[in-house]
Amino acid sequence: MEILAIAGSLRIQSSNAALVRAIAQLTSQNTTLKIYDGLGNLPPFSPDIDTEPPPQPVSHLRSKISNADAVLICTPEYAYGMPGVLKNALDWLVSSGSLYQKPVAALSASPSDRGGDRALTWLLQTLTALVATVPGQSLICNSIYKREISE
Ligand SMILES: Cc1cc2nc3c(=O)[nH]c(=O)nc-3n(C[C@H](O)[C@H](O)[C@H](O)COP(=O)(O)O)c2cc1C
Repeated sequence: MEILAIAGSLRIQSSNAALVRAIAQLTSQNTTLKIYDGLGNLPPFSPDIDTEPPPQPVSHLRSKISNADAVLICTPEYAYGMPGVLKNALDWLVSSGSLYQKPVAALSASPSDRGGDRALTWLLQTLTALVATVPGQSLICNSIYKREISE
């Protein structure tokens, strides 16, 4: 099984990226977790450039998702929502239907006591719009867990 993991932060010391890397170390022998690192290369979404073929970074993202059996998205919370770079990536997946019925796990990590729950809520709404399959309960990681993974 191949999982594509997307951390919704461009920050070098990102705790969400650290969380994704920690999860990658926990996968079993039959599971590969590949980390997508092209979020910052995607152009700002506009229907005017959502062409066939699409911009190269967009086709790269779409093919990575298409080749994956499941997707893991780990988002920080920026101003009560997900960061614009992550929403931008998801907007590029609307017309392609790349996440249609694709199993997607959603996580949020934030140093606040609420653990990024508002960003996670927004992310889950967007995944609903994209008709992704979100199994089980999605998770919020608070500052305590963040400390554990950074040690
Ligand atoms: C512009 C900005 C807005 C933020 N807004 C929130 C917020 O609304 N709620 C929250 O819990 N944390 C907020 N934070 C704190 C981030 O959750 C924190 O910086 C987190 O570590 C970012 O994730 P990262 O470590 O993966 O980059 C904000 C940070 C920035 C830079």
